Amino acid sequence: MNFLSDTTAPAHPKLIDAIAAANTGFASSYGNDAISARVEARLREIFECDLKVLFAVSGTASNALALSVLCPPDGAILCHDEAHIHRDERGAPEFYTGGGKLVPLRGEHAKIELAELDRALEEIPEGFVHASPARVLSLSNLTESGTAYTVAEVRERTVRLENRPAFVHMDGARFANALVSLGCTPAELTWKAGVDVLCFGATKNGALGAEAVVLFPSVADRFEMLQARQKRGGHMAPKMRFMAAQFEAWLADELWLELARAANNRAAALAAGLAALPGIEILHPVEGNEIFARLPEAVATRLRAAGAEFYQWPDGSARLVTSWCTQASEIESLLATARQISP
Ligand SMILES: Cc1ncc(COP(=O)(O)O)c(C=O)c1O
Repeated sequence: MNFLSDTTAPAHPKLIDAIAAANTGFASSYGNDAISARVEARLREIFECDLKVLFAVSGTASNALALSVLCPPDGAILCHDEAHIHRDERGAPEFYTGGGKLVPLRGEHAKIELAELDRALEEIPEGFVHASPARVLSLSNLTESGTAYTVAEVRERTVRLENRPAFVHMDGARFANALVSLGCTPAELTWKAGVDVLCFGATKNGALGAEAVVLFPSVADRFEMLQARQKRGGHMAPKMRFMAAQFEAWLADELWLELARAANNRAAALAAGLAALPGIEILHPVEGNEIFARLPEAVATRLRAAGAEFYQWPDGSARLVTSWCTQASEIESLLATARQISP
C-alpha cells in the first residue's frame, strides 16, 4: 500500500528491456544517436508538429533548463503558488535563469485564477522600468492538486499573454495522466492551446529516469541555447541513448497512455471508496493519479499501522498517489482498513 509518490514505483519492464536492447555496440553521444533521432520523429507524429527535443534526467532539471531559454535574468515567471517550480525546486528556476523572478498566483485546486492572472499582468505593464516584465506563464498539467487544466482553460490563460513578448511553459511531469483524463490530443493540450515548451515527464509513469524538454515550433530556434545551458549546467548526459530508449519503448503501442490510464483508474477507485466513508473529505477533483483527502486522525493512524504509506501535506491533508503498477488489491486493503475504523 505504497501511495507516497509515483516516483516510488518501479520502472516498467518494457523500458528496462529497451535499455538492455540499446546496450549493444557504440553510438554517438550527447543525443546524436539513432534512437534519439527516432524518438524525435515519433514525438513529431504524436504532437503533429515540427518540434525539437532534449532529454533530461529529472523534472527539476527539465523545468529549470526550459525556463532558462524562455525567461531573461530580469524577467518574471508567473506560476501558481503551489507550483513545483516555486515550492519544490530549491530555486533551480531562479538559478538557471540567472535571476528570473517567480511570481506566485492563487487559484482553487492549483489552477491559476483568471482574475489573479489579469491582476498580475496589470501590475507589471510592459515598459515599466521598475518591475520585472512577465516573460513566462508556467502551467502544471496535472496541477499540483491532481486536477487537469482543460484545453479551454489552458487557452483562456495563454491568450492573456499574446500581446506581450512572453512564452508559455507547461510542467508536464504528469502530462500523460492529464491527457488521458481529458481525452484530447497532445497537440490540442499544448501548442495548439498556446504552449511553447512542454516538460514531458516519463519518470512518474513507468520510466527509470527520463524527461523530455519539448520545444514546439514557436521556440524551436532556441534548441542550441537549450543544449548549451544543459551542458554548462552539468546536465548533459553523455549516454543519452539510454534515456531515448526509455522514451521509445514508452511511446510505442501507446504504452504511455495505457500506464497513465491504469494509474488514473486506480486513483478514481480509491477516491470513490474514500468519499463514501463518513468523515472523509476529498479536497480536489480527482482528475489524474493524485488524491488529497482530509482523514480523521484515527483513520490516518490506523491506515499507517496497517502498512499504508502516504504523505501528510502541509495543510494537514493526506496525499495518496497511485502509479502504473498500483494493484486493485492495494486499494481494497486500504479501503477495508479505513472502513473498520470509520464511524
Ligand atoms: C508537478 C511536478 N513537476 C516536476 C516534478 C519533478 O521533480 P523531480 O526533479 O523530482 O523529477 C515533480 C515531482 O514531484 C512534480 O510533481
